[in-house]
Amino acid sequence: MRTLKHLFDRNQRWADSIKEKDPDFFTRLSKQQAPQYLWIGCSDSRVPATEIVDLMPGEIFVHRNIANLVVHSDLNSLSVIQFAVEVLKVSHIIVCGHYGCGGVKAALEGANHGLIDNWLQFIRDNYRQHQALVDAQPDEPARQKIMCELNVMEQVWNVCQTTFVQNAWESGRELNVHGWIYDIADGILRDLDVTVTGRRESMAIRRKI
Ligand code: CO
Repeated sequence: MRTLKHLFDRNQRWADSIKEKDPDFFTRLSKQQAPQYLWIGCSDSRVPATEIVDLMPGEIFVHRNIANLVVHSDLNSLSVIQFAVEVLKVSHIIVCGHYGCGGVKAALEGANHGLIDNWLQFIRDNYRQHQALVDAQPDEPARQKIMCELNVMEQVWNVCQTTFVQNAWESGRELNVHGWIYDIADGILRDLDVTVTGRRESMAIRRKI
């Protein structure tokens, strides 16, 4: 199939329905974006950032990758965070994981998946750090569930360690880093209660996880 006509048809209907409610919507949006939130989430098709929190285009700046990882040497996520913090001046960075994450599951299983195993190695490193807690869980679903949560907390810590976030706090800017988890089974977001609003608080999170 060379063209995906049905998707263009859907797009036309979607744009029409928005313009029907708000004729200036796209004109206004084309002038600038001013999102308050940066969302760092999993690429999983069941976890679309804007839809989950019921916001409109223009309201969330989004970065997604497999298993919502923030790796200190990953130019892609670092560039997104820098742009969001320094140019867009967002006041909230949300790391959102999800239960049933295929990346977390694959990392725990340890089977061979090819190139992606190099990416999943970061989750395996997290697992080694929390192995006692994860292995104390009663069964495999519980192990995966707690690993999904711990993975989010570790990424919150990683976001807090980036130079841009540290600099923002240093200069007295309000910048909050949140760790959330989404349940595909019921569509509900949960706050993991690891919100960091400054450098001192980030150290407390390190002790917590
Ligand atoms: Co996932």
